[in-house]
Amino acid sequence: MSVGIDEISFYTSNYFLDLKNLAARQQIDSDKYYQGIGQEKMGMPAPDEDVVTMAANAALPLIERVGPDAVSTVMFATETGIDQSKSAGVYVHRLLGLSPRCRVVELKQACYSATAAIQMACALVARQPEKKVLVVASDVARYDLSTPGEATQGCGAVAMLITANPRLVELDPEVGNYTEDVMDFWRPNYRSTALVDGKYSTKIYLKSLKQAWEHFREVSSLAFSDFQHFCYHLPFTRMAQKAHKHLAKVNKSELTPEMLDLQIEDSLSYNRIIGNSYTASMYIGLVSLLENCKQNLSGERVGFFSYGSGCVAEFFSGRVVAGYEQYLHGARHKAMLEARNEVSYEEYLQLYNDVDPVDGGEHQKQQGTTGRFRLAAVSHHKREYIAC
Ligand code: CAA
Repeated sequence: MSVGIDEISFYTSNYFLDLKNLAARQQIDSDKYYQGIGQEKMGMPAPDEDVVTMAANAALPLIERVGPDAVSTVMFATETGIDQSKSAGVYVHRLLGLSPRCRVVELKQACYSATAAIQMACALVARQPEKKVLVVASDVARYDLSTPGEATQGCGAVAMLITANPRLVELDPEVGNYTEDVMDFWRPNYRSTALVDGKYSTKIYLKSLKQAWEHFREVSSLAFSDFQHFCYHLPFTRMAQKAHKHLAKVNKSELTPEMLDLQIEDSLSYNRIIGNSYTASMYIGLVSLLENCKQNLSGERVGFFSYGSGCVAEFFSGRVVAGYEQYLHGARHKAMLEARNEVSYEEYLQLYNDVDPVDGGEHQKQQGTTGRFRLAAVSHHKREYIAC
């Protein structure tokens, strides 16, 4: 029996800022963003949108297919949670009408926790193969204005059904891990924006890749040349290009520009126009690969590198299942991305500054999302979510 990703769907906000406009305001060359970090647009959540509404929107098409009683566990991965105590997944559980007999939990380790969720979900399914686990990863990436991180903001959520005999990607049980206590990127409880030592974070990312890969090589029979495609954690798409060159060098493998393109480029298309979505990023990259690769991926091996600052990293592998293309949501994803509205720099600032009230009063949220769920109000310190 194989275990892995049976279905995958993502959601992002209907608003984006073109980084050309950010560059113009900063009076710098837009190629720094378009070429230098490989990002063109960044998603901005609407005032009535957060990790809960995005996650519910991502998961809805999966639940509409399998039915609300089919899911035995929801694992909600995020590093921009909305409560220190209650799992964001419990709100999603209600919005999707899931069974009271379904367990729900939230997981955190920066951008890595969706991968931990998937591995735990695989273990649950291996034990009880009739179960379906819903893994959702949802984040809003926010940095201070006028910092180097500002252009790497974004938002998005991904939902995956983990099952036995999956229809999309079978995941191999062997994984390579690397953990080290470092301060490359973090967000203390009293801050709504992340703190980051930017250049250091990229160095630690590459170091973790080498270490996780070396562990993977010790436990798996697969070598670099056994992989046709790679999905990397995507804080910005140029990071994946650097990472892939680094991994090829570690393996003393030649990597022509054509090979670089073939092995990672299709996984970058969506993230280039959405921005960073932390826990969801690499998995939106997987959707991008599956939906944008012109050649048929059936039977091909994909290498995954998941990285969460702080840091925990994991290299793992999977094989695309024959017939996968019938079960994708490509048309819907593309229509959603095409229907987004571009915001001006001033509108971007308005969205950026629309932070949650903290006074315990009654606050209706301005309507802005085009998704199926919205945060209607924050009243008496309680978040009120509704279906539209
Ligand atoms: N045309 C083309 N390229 C240009 C250019 C131009 N006009 N101007 C600059 N560039 C290039 C630079 O040469 C540089 O390329 P290299 O990296 O190949 O040297 C690139 O654009 C970026 O320029 P800078 O190095 O000057 O950029 P910066 O210092 O202002 O910011 C950053 C870069 C530090 C990554 C910043 O975006 C940042 O802090 N981001 C947030 C942190 C982050 O994403 N870290 C990634 C690892 S941590 C992680 O992965 C977890 C996570 O999700 C956060």
